Amino acid sequence: MKRPQRTLFDSFNLDAPHVTEARRLLQTLARRERDEAHPPKAYMITSAGRGEGKSTICGLISMVAARIFRRKTLVIDADLRRPSMHSLLGLTQRPGLAELMEGSASFEEATRSTLIGTLSAIPSGRPTKSVGDTYDDIAFRELLDQLRPQYDLIFIDCPPVVPVMEPLLIAEHVDALLVVAMAGATQVTMIRRMRQILAPLEPKIAGAILNNATDGLPYYYDYRYYGYESPKPKRVREIRTPAVPPPPGDAAARPAARERGGA
Ligand SMILES: Nc1ncnc2c1ncn2[C@@H]1O[C@H](COP(=O)(O)OP(=O)(O)O)[C@@H](O)[C@H]1O
Ligand SMILES: [Mg+2]
Repeated sequence: MKRPQRTLFDSFNLDAPHVTEARRLLQTLARRERDEAHPPKAYMITSAGRGEGKSTICGLISMVAARIFRRKTLVIDADLRRPSMHSLLGLTQRPGLAELMEGSASFEEATRSTLIGTLSAIPSGRPTKSVGDTYDDIAFRELLDQLRPQYDLIFIDCPPVVPVMEPLLIAEHVDALLVVAMAGATQVTMIRRMRQILAPLEPKIAGAILNNATDGLPYYYDYRYYGYESPKPKRVREIRTPAVPPPPGDAAARPAARERGGA
């Protein structure tokens, strides 16, 4: 019998360190929101290269926003090249964003409900043409304009900045960018290149998230040290903690600093 696919819901409990970190991150963003006349609603999540935890973090913060902060949240999988949000949330892949941009599906067809009542998702869908031909920048902007009034928060899981073009296009339409780097994995040269590419959008960068940062933290950071561990066995490999975003102005600097052994 085929084993059911594990999803982010399997490891989602309020005591888990990765959920705690996601809460801190959203708390930081929410605090900033309170001071702004037009708080950001549409965030995109990206990183320099692939496999740095963009989708995992995007899914996780969407779940936390919906479940804990009780915001009406939408997560969109805009990584048509290596889509994964449908697997992370246990959803069917199509129809989704590709079909919406191609005009072959309606919002009702492309939008899924999830195990969290306040969280909806638009998975990637399956492009019928090449991704370069499917990603339609004007259609994307129009879709986002139509979706904005319906949600409190929208998180868009994007492809990596360095190899492909779409994140730079999507960045024009969102309110804020969250940039992920993987501790011990993302190379400094890649981060430099990402900073160059994103330079015109620097004011929109809301924060940089250092994924898998626990190796750099002292042992007493681990909640198990305090005996707080939930008695239930872990069902999935633990997703280690993303770090809270640094203050604006330091946006993409921290991962680079860390790579140099400086953070
Ligand atoms: N902090 C982490 N600890 C352990 N595994 C992680 C962590 N972040 C991501 N992963 C794993 O790394 C792989 C790539 O993550 P993913 O979120 O798909 O990256 P991306 O979207 O940037 O390509 C996945 O198998 C994911 O489960
Ligand atoms: Mg991904």
